[in-house]
Amino acid sequence: MRYDVDAIRADFPIFETGIVYLDSANTSQRPRQVLEAMDEYYTKFNSNIHRGAYRFSEIATEHYESTRAKAKRFLNARSTREIVYTRGTTEGINLVAYGWGRKHLTAGDLIVLTILEHHSNIVPWQILAAEKGARLEWVDIDEQGRLRQDQFAALLEQSPKLVSFGQISNAMGTINPYAEMTAAAKAAGAMVLIDGAQGAPHAGIDVQAVGCDFYAFSGHKMLGPTGAGILYGRREVLEEMDPFLAGGDMIRTVRKEGTIYAEVPTKFEAGTMPIAQVIGLGAAFDYLEGLGMSSVRAHELEMTEYALEALSEVPDLTVYGPPASERGGVVSFDVKGIHAHDLATILDRHQVAIRAGHHCAQPLMDRLDVSATARASFYVYTKREEIDVMIEGIRDAQRIFA
Ligand SMILES: Cc1ncc(COP(=O)(O)O)c(C=O)c1O
Repeated sequence: MRYDVDAIRADFPIFETGIVYLDSANTSQRPRQVLEAMDEYYTKFNSNIHRGAYRFSEIATEHYESTRAKAKRFLNARSTREIVYTRGTTEGINLVAYGWGRKHLTAGDLIVLTILEHHSNIVPWQILAAEKGARLEWVDIDEQGRLRQDQFAALLEQSPKLVSFGQISNAMGTINPYAEMTAAAKAAGAMVLIDGAQGAPHAGIDVQAVGCDFYAFSGHKMLGPTGAGILYGRREVLEEMDPFLAGGDMIRTVRKEGTIYAEVPTKFEAGTMPIAQVIGLGAAFDYLEGLGMSSVRAHELEMTEYALEALSEVPDLTVYGPPASERGGVVSFDVKGIHAHDLATILDRHQVAIRAGHHCAQPLMDRLDVSATARASFYVYTKREEIDVMIEGIRDAQRIFA
């Protein structure tokens, strides 16, 4: 079936505004189907889940739980018990740091990260390492933004307890060899967490084939609403972990003498969860499944190749990161003599939205010796014409700053 980008765009009401949206790595837009699924919950059977003995609560619970089955299918997890709802990637990683890390790490233990990480895959480990007296080590990149596998292999020889890295870098777009890295880390006896914030929306994953212990991602970067994400965890690992947040719903019994927790994944879902958002995320899984993740990836590759080619013709412009075949739909660049923020402001006058800044990856910016980059990112609805408008805007900025 032909990939019909115009038909896809017709599902996204926001494009009626005329925005040229090139910031999907930050947050994606949402199709009508996702908005309608949430609207249906609020207008037709709004009620809390798992609690009421009445019909609305049962319907809400069914819709809420159906997202878990869709996530299981999307990830090829073994069981819906391996699917924990979270607010997003950040919460998923924190859940692992608290629930697994606090229980299992001791002084001197090694955690291996990479210089490409987003702050949300850095700061929780820094806090944990400070509390436990554990060590952090970082895998560096080569000149093209690829992780130094020689260094990674050397760090694995030091028997780390945990290895955590992104599937795809949000700042450089690098697609890491995550399956190979996971296999090597598991062979070295480490637990492996993959930050799938950029991987899930743009490539997907088969968690059983890859063999990671944890995989965290956010719904809002993959056509879903803000406020709902997923942490996948291997069931045996989740079962022996401590809870993260405590309170209602995550318990089986509470007595003055103590509490018995609910089974996984409920043990990790305390309090009233973002019900509408989880239901919306279910519609996002349906939408992506309808497109097929291989078509999503193929479309993004086409957009990325087109953008890299067009940017290469702009004078005084440096692109960071590897060739299109090794990157997700993310292009970070720098225009000589124009600060990324100024560039973004001028592009905004052309109705073009890009991201400018450190992309929550300050250690990487330090490594590149820059304070900020401009970043354009693409998704299922991106058109070549939009990239052309961005290029025109960059040339306009160059005229203004000449
Ligand atoms: C690679 C990566 N990890 C983690 C996050 C954090 O995601 P969230 O803010 O949805 O928790 C992001 C968001 O930009 C990201 O790109």
